[in-house]
Amino acid sequence: MSDCRICGAGLKPFMSFGPMPIANGFLTPEDFDGEYFFDLEPALCESCGMVQIVEQPAPELMFHADYAFFSGTSQRMAQHFKALAGELIERNLTAKDAFAVELGSNDGIMLRHIADAGIRHLGIEPSANVADAAREAGVNTLTAFFDEACAERIVDEYGHADVIYSANVMCHIPDLPGVAAGVRRLLKPDGLLIFEDPYLGDVIAKTSYDQIYDEHVFLFSATSVARAFAPHGLSLIDTRPLPTHGGSMRYYLAPKGSYPAAPAVETRLEAERQQGLTDPARYESFREACERSRRELLAALGTARDEGGCVVGYGATAKSTTVTNYCGITSDLVSFISDITPEKQGKYSPGVHIPVRPYDAFRANYPDYALLFAWNHEAEIRDKEQDFAASGGRWIRYVPEVEILA
Ligand code: TYD
Repeated sequence: MSDCRICGAGLKPFMSFGPMPIANGFLTPEDFDGEYFFDLEPALCESCGMVQIVEQPAPELMFHADYAFFSGTSQRMAQHFKALAGELIERNLTAKDAFAVELGSNDGIMLRHIADAGIRHLGIEPSANVADAAREAGVNTLTAFFDEACAERIVDEYGHADVIYSANVMCHIPDLPGVAAGVRRLLKPDGLLIFEDPYLGDVIAKTSYDQIYDEHVFLFSATSVARAFAPHGLSLIDTRPLPTHGGSMRYYLAPKGSYPAAPAVETRLEAERQQGLTDPARYESFREACERSRRELLAALGTARDEGGCVVGYGATAKSTTVTNYCGITSDLVSFISDITPEKQGKYSPGVHIPVRPYDAFRANYPDYALLFAWNHEAEIRDKEQDFAASGGRWIRYVPEVEILA
């Protein structure tokens, strides 16, 4: 049995998704034989309430020079980060010598706006290729994993930070206590830690089990975040629900005693108690909901195939690796996956080896069905793909329910 990464209590998985490959590990046929698999098993720590996967592959297997994820592939995500940068500039980075740090700054999608405003900033990004893209966009970037020693280096070179921000990164870091200690070291006494990640409450409510994959070592709630950061002198002072990634939460933390908590915090904690987010029984019913979703999705795809329909996957998301491998969806059911990311095109999806083709392959010859692997971008995609719908093409989605949409 493994131990909770936050409090050290023993962990008992509430389900197993079976052997899983690296979620963003798009590969070529030469790599099929040596492909890495691990047991994807989420667990609720009954002691501190943190939901986490029991085993996580080594970081080097997930984040490296060929990391296939680029933040800038969605227009709406680009707008989301621009709006956030505007808020930080207006509210939190007004001091003359203000300094902003972003953990996991990817291709600089957020920090480029801070850089453009002439504000001192530093992005920390362990994947060398995306860090290079950020530098090209004028974003001061350090290629490193953030921890207490890294925080120390930054303090020596730049001083303390007014804001430390991160999006869809904190939930990737197994040594969260080490990050919390580094954040406390790097923040000014009245500084803010602001981070956002997919929200456990949404995953449970929508059965969006595909948020569970190797990179997401944690699925946070306000309850588990407050408890994880408190021992490091950081208090949860506000929360804000966000529509990104199919339902995220933005958490605001500050050194203990520096700011009062907004009423939203208690309201959120109460809502989480009501939803049963720290109750093991809730996860039993989640497991059953995952199994039902799998049965229904396989039935829908099987019917499409038996009718002679062509199904193409839309968006080679990391999330879809959990869906295809858990459900056993191969190229027998989904001919190929269309994706706009050049680094994924021409490769094969992890584990089940469905070919990934450029977007033109989808546009040039519309399939009968498009399986919405990028369901978190549904509004943007359906807006863009009105011709597909007009041609009689139908969408298959599986969050929050398995449904076929005209
Ligand atoms: P993302 O939403 O970040 O999901 P994950 O974190 O699970 O990888 O990834 C979206 C993927 O979908 C990305 O590979 C780009 C692709 N995509 C398209 O191909 N077309 C689109 O119109 C959009 C919005 C995304």
